[in-house]
Amino acid sequence: MSDVAKPKVYVTRELPGKALEIIHERFDAEVWREYRPPPKHIIVEKVRNVDGLVPLLSDKIDAEVFDAGPKLKIIAQMAVGFDNIDVNEATRRGIYVTNTPEVLTETTADFAFALIMAVARRVVEADRYVRAGQWVVGWHPSMMLGRDVNGATLGIVGAGRIGSAVARRARGFGMRILYSDVVSRPELEKEVSTKRVDLDTLLKESDYVSLHVALSKETHHLINKEKLRLMKRTAYLINTSRGPVVDEGALFQALSEGKISGAALDVFEQEPTSLQNPLLKLNNLVVAPHISSASEQTRAKMAEMAAENLVAFFEGRKPPNLVNPQVLQIRPLPKQP
Ligand code: GLV
Repeated sequence: MSDVAKPKVYVTRELPGKALEIIHERFDAEVWREYRPPPKHIIVEKVRNVDGLVPLLSDKIDAEVFDAGPKLKIIAQMAVGFDNIDVNEATRRGIYVTNTPEVLTETTADFAFALIMAVARRVVEADRYVRAGQWVVGWHPSMMLGRDVNGATLGIVGAGRIGSAVARRARGFGMRILYSDVVSRPELEKEVSTKRVDLDTLLKESDYVSLHVALSKETHHLINKEKLRLMKRTAYLINTSRGPVVDEGALFQALSEGKISGAALDVFEQEPTSLQNPLLKLNNLVVAPHISSASEQTRAKMAEMAAENLVAFFEGRKPPNLVNPQVLQIRPLPKQP
């Protein structure tokens, strides 16, 4: 293919693995090279002339972007979540949207479990304690007591791919597992002997509540003041899904008043979260900068998957991870080159 015939693509960050190699080989591609995300006005400017866009979850892709990019045909996001993209509007305009599911499931579940362990056994606090010179007694029966994970009840909110992978890990820890979901998961129930309950029951009975729902109008502030009040005083909340699923103001109150024991957050309502966020003053909170899928292997696979979705589309094949299949009725796939 000559250069002029190559579709034009804008990539909003340097991608790991072989993704950029794949993209540069097949497309006339421009890449935003900075570590920080491109400001919205740059995306709006860059999209003017492109056929495809590869954004990250931190790039807001909405009608303003679509208006600016009349040639845009596909958005191949490098993330499983796609709440940053106005998918309905994309579909209406015949723009394909793809994501990167499955390759990050186990890695994300590992991290959710790491957070459960960290908050329950005070791993981060213990590290700070030693480094701050507070470890002045070699061993004491009541030093840094946490709570057991083994034998406790884990409540999984949203037992999709990642929630199910967390449930499998919990089985190895001898936990009792409950889940709440909009659908029932009979296979998971058999596999890890879990039981579907309503959200309120899950919150009342669980020692650890781990969130694995996508962000939508229905799940925005799903965990609010009333829901936090249902949790046990000895319970912990773990969020590796999306920040706005939890009302941070309500969480701050619940944690500082001892209404729940602790929380571990990999995601925040605003990312990056401000150093002024009052949550960061609390000791019974473990935080991370949205890194649940951040292993070398998984990030490379996610980026390559985004690139492959792009390639499939321009080769006239249905992208393997199309999230808006209704678009096929609006814009047929391009003719095979
Ligand atoms: C990460 O949060 C993702 O959605 O892939």
